[in-house]
Amino acid sequence: MGNQKAAFVCQNCGYTSIKWLGKCPSCNSWNTLLEETGSQSQGQHIWGNEPVALSQIKEKEQKRFTTGIAEFDRVLGGGTVEGDVILIGGEPGIGKSTLLLQAAAVASQKGKKVLYVSGEESLSQIKLRADRLKILSSSLSILCEVSLERIIKFIEETSPDWIVLDSIQTAYKNGINSSAGSVSQLRECASDLIQLAKKNSKALFLIGHVTKEGVIAGPRVLEHMVDVVLYFEGEKTGPFRILKTFKNRFGSTQEIGVFEMTERGLKEIPNPSEIFMSHSPSPAAGTVIASSIEGTRPLLVEIQALVSASMSINFPRRVITGVDYNRALLLLAVLEKTFGAPLHKYDLFINVVGGIKIEETAVDLPLIFAIVSSLKNKPLPQGALFVGEVGLSGEVRGVSNIKARIKEAEKLGFKKCILPDVNLSSLSAAEKAGGKIEYIGVKDIVSALKKFFNN
Ligand code: TYD
Ligand code: MG
Repeated sequence: MGNQKAAFVCQNCGYTSIKWLGKCPSCNSWNTLLEETGSQSQGQHIWGNEPVALSQIKEKEQKRFTTGIAEFDRVLGGGTVEGDVILIGGEPGIGKSTLLLQAAAVASQKGKKVLYVSGEESLSQIKLRADRLKILSSSLSILCEVSLERIIKFIEETSPDWIVLDSIQTAYKNGINSSAGSVSQLRECASDLIQLAKKNSKALFLIGHVTKEGVIAGPRVLEHMVDVVLYFEGEKTGPFRILKTFKNRFGSTQEIGVFEMTERGLKEIPNPSEIFMSHSPSPAAGTVIASSIEGTRPLLVEIQALVSASMSINFPRRVITGVDYNRALLLLAVLEKTFGAPLHKYDLFINVVGGIKIEETAVDLPLIFAIVSSLKNKPLPQGALFVGEVGLSGEVRGVSNIKARIKEAEKLGFKKCILPDVNLSSLSAAEKAGGKIEYIGVKDIVSALKKFFNN
């Protein structure tokens, strides 16, 4: 065993100090430093320890194994590769265990030898879930275990191709003087399992709980160690769940996978645009359909704004979900300055239908239209799609992937598209969807808003 060292470790970010501190200097959280004695394991060599000339390295053909769940494969970058270590985080009850049990069952049906290790549920609880999901798989083994030594021993004896650990926070390694879930335990357990997976070319899935701030507990420690970090998100009250890539050493980090939680487990949603719109029969003031690109996939989303007279003169309320808070405040300032909208007198609520979070700036223009539409209590025409980035002086800037966005709009029967002037002039006649859509190019928000609100 390595040398035993006592240290105080922040349970939030993994910061280590030799003395106790009330406040973590790294992440500024209070009272999170705990004394831990960990074996400071020396790094072991997985890939050999001699330097090799780049030209001498033999290329190894990386074969992707597709799980057969297309939405899951998409976020993995097309499936798992050998030695892939994937961390999946999400709030309790969001569906992590369900997703992994379904994926494990499909992989075992496709010929992989799969081991599902659970430290959270008993065999009978897992059986109940499997019955609910209608999983019948003889080559899927379930192990209920928290001891890391026994988990590793079992893996070495049975040599499965796919290993799922539900969850990394329940694993416990002997010789580390801190409880399961502490940063030392997470680091040591993950490190041992990752070495095992890399050495023997296994795919390893680690399920991780998130803290109330929405990051995986012991986050920085684990995120650096694994190849792929996925987050499973969604409104728990609604049926839709989104799997997002946060990091991917072997693929894009832009992709999302969309699922619906049903009575029989998670179902894939191949055409997510349809679910992110509320399908109200008549147009309502304050709602706008926006175009966003998530990874390689265009997605139409509905942005809703509610502007109502504020009771507080000094502090109007700003409740913003689904889009970046600071970006929304910036757009409010631009709107107030250039269009003269007296928004400081109003409370403002913004929501994106379906619980999705949009980070793209192409929703700037639609957001501004939603706010003004609610302020003036005037609905926008039905079947109109808005897209465009807005700059600080109110100019409308071009967005990427305009052709893909238009194709999606055409597919879903949109009649009008309000887009940046520069994007409109870049489209050829053939790309304009054969005259099915009327295009309105806009240069700045003031003239664009005047077109619709006769101000
Ligand atoms: P679970 O996978 O246990 O979540 P996690 O592992 O992230 O904590 O999912 C739990 C929720 O999913 C629970 O509220 C019940 C619901 N659920 C369904 O709606 N349908 C199903 O078929 C299953 C298995 C779960
Ligand atoms: Mg679970």
